[in-house]
Amino acid sequence: MPDAVPDALHHYAEMHTSPEPSLLQKINRETYVQVSQPHMLSGHLQGRLLSMISKLIRPAVILEVGTFTGYSAICLAEGLRKGGVLHTIDHNDELADRCEKYFEEAGMAQQIILHTGDAADIIPSLAGPFDLVFLDADKPNYAKYFDLVIDRMPSGGVILADNVLYHTEVLRPEEKQSNNAKAISAFNRKVAADDRVESVMLTVRDGLFLIRKK
Ligand SMILES: C[S@@+](CC[C@H](N)C(=O)[O-])C[C@H]1O[C@@H](n2cnc3c(N)ncnc32)[C@H](O)[C@@H]1O
Repeated sequence: MPDAVPDALHHYAEMHTSPEPSLLQKINRETYVQVSQPHMLSGHLQGRLLSMISKLIRPAVILEVGTFTGYSAICLAEGLRKGGVLHTIDHNDELADRCEKYFEEAGMAQQIILHTGDAADIIPSLAGPFDLVFLDADKPNYAKYFDLVIDRMPSGGVILADNVLYHTEVLRPEEKQSNNAKAISAFNRKVAADDRVESVMLTVRDGLFLIRKK
């Protein structure tokens, strides 16, 4: 399924973006060789965007929903303020050792806390407030995750939601959309109608929603 942006433009943007740090290149490479569904990893361009946004916000607490192999967690943690912490959640415990090894190699083992289990169960147990939230797990639950965090964010807090163009499926009539695309479409409408937030949908890669609490 295609992303919103043609490959050639995506590569052009990557070529004019700061280089992917060597550890992230290694995680990217190893994920593609050793892990199933490697396309789930954020990658060079989106990873640098996550890092840039985090560095602009300088969050004390970041929440990531959907760790996978830890690539985006490391990108987001680059912007943590001194003493800050990133909580990342994934229900796939098979990748936990790999993630912990990468966090160690990044020198971020103290800042990144990996929680294994279902995100909807774990989020309420985490200490907020959350300055920055990255939603990148199961699409049908994006709306639930939004509801779980929005009242636990300060004014100016930011939610980033990935895959909000869902391989361009959001453009199809609803009856021709997959269940994931239907859920994403409903989430996009919900965010656009919520006057507690202001939002910008970026057509980077598979669509990244930038949502700021007023
Ligand atoms: C797209 S991948 C995350 C990619 C990662 N953020 C990155 O950019 O490299 C989505 C992850 O969400 C996890 N996931 C899916 N449903 C979940 C749930 N209900 N609770 C926790 N994790 C979940 C999957 O196991 C998968 O590793």
